[in-house]
Parts: sequence; C-alpha cells; structure tokens
Amino acid sequence: MTPVLEMKNASISLNKKLIIDNMNLKIQEHESVVFIGPSGGGKTILLKLLAGIYSPTAGDVFINGENWHDITGEHKHDLAKKLGMLFQQGALFDPLTVIENVAFPIREHYNLPEEEVLAKSQDLLEKVNLLDSKNKLPVQLSGGMQRRLGIARALALNPQIIFYDDPVAGQDPMQSDQMLRLISNFKEKNKSTLLMVTSNMKVAYRMADRIFMIIDHELIDAGTPKQILEHPDPRIQQFIHGSLDGPIKSL
Ligand SMILES: Nc1ncnc2c1ncn2[C@@H]1O[C@H](COP(=O)(O)OP(=O)(O)O)[C@@H](O)[C@H]1O
Ligand SMILES: [Mg+2]
Repeated sequence: MTPVLEMKNASISLNKKLIIDNMNLKIQEHESVVFIGPSGGGKTILLKLLAGIYSPTAGDVFINGENWHDITGEHKHDLAKKLGMLFQQGALFDPLTVIENVAFPIREHYNLPEEEVLAKSQDLLEKVNLLDSKNKLPVQLSGGMQRRLGIARALALNPQIIFYDDPVAGQDPMQSDQMLRLISNFKEKNKSTLLMVTSNMKVAYRMADRIFMIIDHELIDAGTPKQILEHPDPRIQQFIHGSLDGPIKSL
C-alpha cells in the first residue's frame, strides 16, 4: 500500500544549522503516530516538512505517493484541504471572532450556503466547549481555550491527515482528557491519519500506535507504547523516564 506520508533520506538545515539528518519514515493510512524528543530537537520542523510547509534541503518527502517537490498551484491548494493542522503558534486569525475563525476555512474551501457554514461552525464550537465564547476575539480567550479553538479549526475541513503539535500543552488534566477524547473520536469517525507531537509521555502512550523519537537529528522508530518501554537505546529510556542521568545532555 502506498504510504500516506513518506520521507526518503530527508534532511533539512535552517540558517546553516542541521535540524533533521537523513530521516526515513513511512506512515500508513489510519495510523496514529506520535513524535517525542527533547525540546528544540526538531519535532515541529519535522511535522512541517511532512505537511509540505518546509522543503527538505536533501532527500524527498511524499504525500499519498506524490513528491511534495512536484506539487504546485491548484493541486497544492486541493491537497491543503485534506490536511488539518494545529501548530503551536499562528493557528488563529486574531482580528476574527471565535466563530469566524472556524467559519472562515469552511467558507474558503466549500461552496456551502451561509446558514450551513454557520451551523457547521457552531457544531464544532460546541464540541470543543466554546459556543458561549463564539463572539469573543482570540485574545480574550485563555491559552487552553485558544488551543481548543485551534482544534475546532483544524477539524473544520474533515481532513484526511491531521497534524497536532503538542495539542494539550497548557491544559489542565481534565481539559486534556476532553481534548484527547475529541481527537480520538474525530479520528475514528473520519478514518483519518493522525500525527502528533507531545511532550507528555502519558499522552504519547494513550494516543500512539507507534512512537518515534527525534534525537541527535535522527529519527528512531521506538515501536508501540509497549515496545518503547523495553527499547534498548539508553537515550529513549532516559527520555521516557524523565531522568537527568544518561547520554542526553539537558539543553
Ligand atoms: N524558521 C526557523 N529558522 C531557523 N531555525 C529554526 C526555525 N524554526 C526552528 N528553528 C530551530 O530549529 C530547531 C528545531 O526546532 P523545533 O522543530 O521547533 O523543535 P521542537 O519542536 O522539537 O521543540 C531549534 O533549534 C530551532 O531554534
Ligand atoms: Mg515544537
């Protein structure tokens, strides 16, 4: 089967600094893949490479078997509709109200009557518990609420592939649980493929079919949540147990 996403010997340097070195990865349809690793190690850049936002400086990145390098114009626009993204920054349109933040992409991508656009937007806001705040501006929301709005936006287009960059950062444990349930339910309903970065190992164990660790610019396939516990690489053991003692020097 053609992987949904694939990297072949992909590297990226930014400002002459090597971030990602010769990574290989295949993600199949409907998989849930979680990326972990030290802060500043390149997790966000990796998601953006896979999403076609950054281009590799060497090697190739494929989506549904097509090289991102060859995808341009209208076709790129169409593909963008199939991708949902929740990144750490820049996900929201600050001058637009909460409901307009969700309605905007729906209006942009689908040719729907305005009532349906608004009904769909309200439905999404209800799912993330933000209906009461629909007329507020993003700056008037707490960090956790902004994140939930980001999720509603990311889900607005029923994406085939969804990228979450630390979706529960800044949420209390109950909000996190609510968020993760929403993410899982959506994934089941849409049969989408899920890629997530998290700095929380509990979240990784809960959400992942497979966990990858980004360390020393490389990607290690650490297997299932069960397998990672037994993984022989001391860097992985140090990281998942959150210890200062070991081969990884703290940043
Ligand atoms: N646009 C950019 N230009 C140059 N360097 C960047 C850029 N974005 C991130 N970096 C650097 O790339 C490295 C990896 O960043 P990032 O992917 O955000 O790490 P993580 O998400 O794992 O915390 C960091 O050293 C960061 O400073
Ligand atoms: Mg990051």
